[in-house]
Amino acid sequence: MDFLICRMKRIVILSGAGMSAESGLKTFRDSDGLWENHNVYDVATPEAFARDPELVLNFYNERRLQVLEAEPNKAHLALADLEKHFHVTIITQNIDNLHERAGSTRVLHLHGEIDLARSSIDASLIYPLNGSQINIGDTCEKGSQLRPHIVWFGEPVPMIEEAIPIVELADILMVIGTSLAVYPAAGLVNYAPHFADKFYIDPNGMDGVNIHNFNVIAKKAGDGVPELVMRLLE
Ligand code: APR
Repeated sequence: MDFLICRMKRIVILSGAGMSAESGLKTFRDSDGLWENHNVYDVATPEAFARDPELVLNFYNERRLQVLEAEPNKAHLALADLEKHFHVTIITQNIDNLHERAGSTRVLHLHGEIDLARSSIDASLIYPLNGSQINIGDTCEKGSQLRPHIVWFGEPVPMIEEAIPIVELADILMVIGTSLAVYPAAGLVNYAPHFADKFYIDPNGMDGVNIHNFNVIAKKAGDGVPELVMRLLE
């Protein structure tokens, strides 16, 4: 007997800060974004942490409180719904846990996670924070100061090796709420198969974004994502 092998279509999402904007979390490069109010080199580099660890820890302690108060928005919830009918993998540049809290089960954080701490001398020592702060004097089991488990500018992005083959297998690629300004994350879009259906959801459209063959949905994620999910689930 021939069995019909009907593989679930694979949907891969690459999300950025715009995904969480309607949950009240600031983006980086919009007006009044995080990088407008903070100098990256004071709060998001290994040199900054070496120079003024307390300033860096407080920057992320503030963002952690904001993430705790935020709720998944309609876009996060719609992506979680997709899992009923598709094999969905979310590759996010975001350090919040809103995709997981919306119910998505396959989420890869390229730039780390706000609710995890790690040893500053042994990257394999990672500790859940469960919403608590990291303060000067909080140390790992080897006695070194804890740091946020976040990829800072100038640091390697270890998860990119896991992300590339996922994008290479996509039947559908959705790029949501990212300026594609930061590599290697932005380079992932080039690994999608030529036959994949590609969508770019951003209220600014693709202004200044140099990628091709994408269906552009120039809407906020909270509107554009549920609409696209509805179309795909029909
Ligand atoms: N819905 C969808 N997109 C939105 C919304 C919204 N409601 N609001 C803003 N955007 C879009 C903006 O138009 C912009 O294109 O989200 C994008 C946000 O871009 P950035 O602020 O550059 O954020 P992101 O692309 O995630 O930054 C990538 O840079 O600073 C590093 O590590 C940091 O992960 C971050 C990386």
